[in-house]
Amino acid sequence: MAKSNTAFVCQNCGTAHAKWSGRCEACGAWNSLVEETVSAPPGGLSAPEAGKKTRVANVDFSPLDSAEPPPPRLSTGIPELDLVFGGGIARSSAVLVGGDPGIGKSTLLLQAAASMAKAGVKSLYISGEEAVSQIQSRARRLNVAASPVQLAAETDLRSILKALKAASPELVIIDSVQTLWSDNLEAAPGSVAQVRACAQELTRFAKKTGAAVVLVGHVTKDGQIAGPRVLEHMVDAVFYFEGERGHQFRILRSVKNRFGPTDEIGVFEMGEQGLSAARDPSALFLAGSEAEASGRAVFAAMEGSRPVLSEVQALAGPESAGSPRRSIVGWDSSRLAMLLAVFDARCGLRFGTRDVYLSVTGGYRITEPAGDLAAAAALASSLLDKSVPAGSVFFGEVALSGAIRPVGRIEPRLREAARLGFTQAFAPPGAPELVDGMAVRALSRLQDLVDVLGGGE
Ligand code: TYD
Ligand code: MG
Repeated sequence: MAKSNTAFVCQNCGTAHAKWSGRCEACGAWNSLVEETVSAPPGGLSAPEAGKKTRVANVDFSPLDSAEPPPPRLSTGIPELDLVFGGGIARSSAVLVGGDPGIGKSTLLLQAAASMAKAGVKSLYISGEEAVSQIQSRARRLNVAASPVQLAAETDLRSILKALKAASPELVIIDSVQTLWSDNLEAAPGSVAQVRACAQELTRFAKKTGAAVVLVGHVTKDGQIAGPRVLEHMVDAVFYFEGERGHQFRILRSVKNRFGPTDEIGVFEMGEQGLSAARDPSALFLAGSEAEASGRAVFAAMEGSRPVLSEVQALAGPESAGSPRRSIVGWDSSRLAMLLAVFDARCGLRFGTRDVYLSVTGGYRITEPAGDLAAAAALASSLLDKSVPAGSVFFGEVALSGAIRPVGRIEPRLREAARLGFTQAFAPPGAPELVDGMAVRALSRLQDLVDVLGGGE
């Protein structure tokens, strides 16, 4: 039996320290060390006793070039999900799906399990959060109750592993990893030590048996999977399910994927019968045709192989006494600060003590630097009270020098914008001049944008 000892484990990064201190030396977090009883995992690297083993296994080396086929995949039966996973979920892999509570993780995974089970994949769904009857009633609501998914409500890791070994499933959903506990550890469920130990055991189960294991993880307020980043290193793929409450759109974003691309997104719509693929995802985040108004600009974004158009709205308030407010939804506050500084220094456009609000509509979040130019257009348009040219889209990165820098994948952005009825694009230099009837105007400096809006005269 493994020997128990205690360690002070950082609840932020999971590093174990021999002694308590006020600050974790590994990640710098304050007051994050908690004493935990840790029994060394069987054969685990942290056990010094492991060095006493007499039998040492041989390590076999392999060439880079291998005739072995890529890991086989299981189609989830949900095309949006398969796209994000990179062509289905890989067997023998452990996958983490994170997201805010209530965003739809359980719904999505129950739908996936149901569709896979119906296609003959042996699927288990183990919930530590809901009773079996609750899951059954959700299944009825989702119209999937006839699917042969096996349900269980359990949180004890040992019981779960025993049941898994007996059932030899091909797909296991664990909802959620934060509710599991292993009696090897004294730490409470949801603590870093527990989450890590449970995820490790389940990952090992996936590798050993060829099952695909999906772990659901809740996200904390600051956007991390509760407790530990350590989980992200442990699993083969990490996906975040995002969206705004009050909007029915949900985006599944890949953060890490050992078996596929990491920049694909899946776009879903939450409805009465659960999640369905959004019908026209590229047009989903457009605010619609309101009357022409200042402070609005459309960004032609790329999410992996998929173009997405979204609208940025900005409002520069009146001069205010005291420190001005900067409020942002769906974009990055440091990029806003940078843009305002560049406007000031390179174009003489001063936001000064005005409150500035910037919002990306529809619950979309801009992650590409190419979004700079659209945000800049919305900001300048609001400040100057001049609307941007009708039917236009924007993309380009703004440098500190005020230069508009080129971005990748220009043509798919332009083609999609043209398809959706836009007629002109403002883009960095180097873009083709005409694509599918869309006129492209190259802007080389931020000042060129201000001139377009008529603020330069
Ligand atoms: P859920 O999957 O339980 O979220 P999570 O597991 O991420 O915490 O989804 C909860 C929300 O989804 C809840 O507010 C109700 C809503 N919902 C629908 O709108 N339609 C549906 O068909 C279902 C099952 C849930
Ligand atoms: Mg849930």
